[in-house]
Amino acid sequence: MRQSSLVVVANRLPIDDSVAPDGACEWRRSPGGLMSALHPLLQHTPATWVGWAGGTGPAPDLPDVDGVRMHTVPLTPEDFRDHYEGFANATLWPLYHDAVEQPEHHRRWWEAYQRVNRRFAEAAAEVTDHGGVVWVQDYHLQLVPALLRELRPDLRIGFFLHVPFPPPELFMQLPRRAELLRGMLGADLIGFQRAQAAHNFAQLVSKLFGIPATDRQVEVDGRTVRVGAFPVAIDTAEMAALAARPDVAARADRLRHDLGDPDHVILSVDRMDYTKGIEQRLKAYSELIADGHVKVRDTVLVQVAVPSRERVGQYQILRDRVEREVGRINGEFGRVGEPAIHYLTQPFDRAELAALYRIADVMAVTPLRDGMNLVAKEYVAARVDDTGALLLSEFAGAAAELSQAYLVNPHDLEGLKQMLLTALEADPRDTTARMRAMREHLHRYDIRSWVRSYLGALDDSGSLLRSMISD
Ligand code: ADP
Ligand code: G6P
Repeated sequence: MRQSSLVVVANRLPIDDSVAPDGACEWRRSPGGLMSALHPLLQHTPATWVGWAGGTGPAPDLPDVDGVRMHTVPLTPEDFRDHYEGFANATLWPLYHDAVEQPEHHRRWWEAYQRVNRRFAEAAAEVTDHGGVVWVQDYHLQLVPALLRELRPDLRIGFFLHVPFPPPELFMQLPRRAELLRGMLGADLIGFQRAQAAHNFAQLVSKLFGIPATDRQVEVDGRTVRVGAFPVAIDTAEMAALAARPDVAARADRLRHDLGDPDHVILSVDRMDYTKGIEQRLKAYSELIADGHVKVRDTVLVQVAVPSRERVGQYQILRDRVEREVGRINGEFGRVGEPAIHYLTQPFDRAELAALYRIADVMAVTPLRDGMNLVAKEYVAARVDDTGALLLSEFAGAAAELSQAYLVNPHDLEGLKQMLLTALEADPRDTTARMRAMREHLHRYDIRSWVRSYLGALDDSGSLLRSMISD
């Protein structure tokens, strides 16, 4: 087995299978931010990405992708049901998002979570060089740091949580709360999106284990585990360059024309998820039409909602409710050739997304809770002429950085309606000043600076990664 000095471990591999023109199945690098960010780094060092390739058959043998080795971890149908759909997405996901849907607890799911985490830890142990660095990602794999440390005490282990880490009152509901924290404490550095999450974590560690913990570090088993906020970023320059491309500009003109050249386009782009506040947003928009504040001829809403985790009951219920509501609003307020809502459930390529961002006079990003929300950042990055208004939930991690957005509490329907109108009617000088400030921020704190700051902190001696992270 070939070994690497830098290993990323994530539930998903950063690749998609697509069908080539000759009908063969081919694997391509998926446009995810982490792979883009790590790409230059991973190429300088023999690097491996450990993850699941999708599906529940035997693990496919994958070729290297842009010089990075893909090491596949297989999931059986039971693992997929009980680990991915169950413990990860029907226990942890709702609990970590303020329990906006009821988390479910099943002992069988916990068994699967342990089993799959062990498989990932064993795979990482197998492919990492002596003294190497392993960077574990997200809530699916919270037990991996401790399991890996047992197997390979020589490694430097980082863990980063992309989703929110909840306040102690919520986390304490988890039947296996102590084991989950112990799993994370196997890392040398635990990164969160926001400082509040690091604070929640420290409080829980002192409460459950009675050991000294601050928002910056925890002393455990004679080791120091560092804790901190590292808000995830995007490849700002890449999105800006894409949005500025002449073919993308032409596509945007076409899209606007196809929408009937309205005065205002409101856009939302979400995974179909109950954390995203889709229903609240539809209600606000339909009430503004019913109240006569918004005319469908002048103002259209484009809602992109890609189906996600489709066999999980809460996701099926949400999709049904959203589609019923879109149908109701279009039936009530639309006209032939003039729907009130343009509703799309397809995945788009990056150029099409950039064209959509270009036509959005108001981008409505109103999750009830979100670790970061990359869509909000992508929109800002795409507004290369500094126009457009970002309507942003206070409960998205992005709100901590994008304070010049039009900030809203999506639970407050009247407030949401009012802020949507404010954004629609804003003075262009005001929106330009806000957009410019947000764009500057995102150029300064981009995905490369995120990777550099996280891996720089993980390698506190400075020696191991110095050569890797110097551009
Ligand atoms: P989450 O990680 O919860 O899905 P984010 O907003 O942080 O939410 O990230 C979503 C990512 O998925 C963004 O990079 C966005 O561009 C991408 N995305 C969302 N909808 C689509 C779509 N219809 N087609 C392609 N990519 C999409
Ligand atoms: C969130 C999670 C990611 C996850 C993504 C898509 O961003 O933090 O870990 O990959 O949603 O969800 P999926 O269930 O399709 O992997």
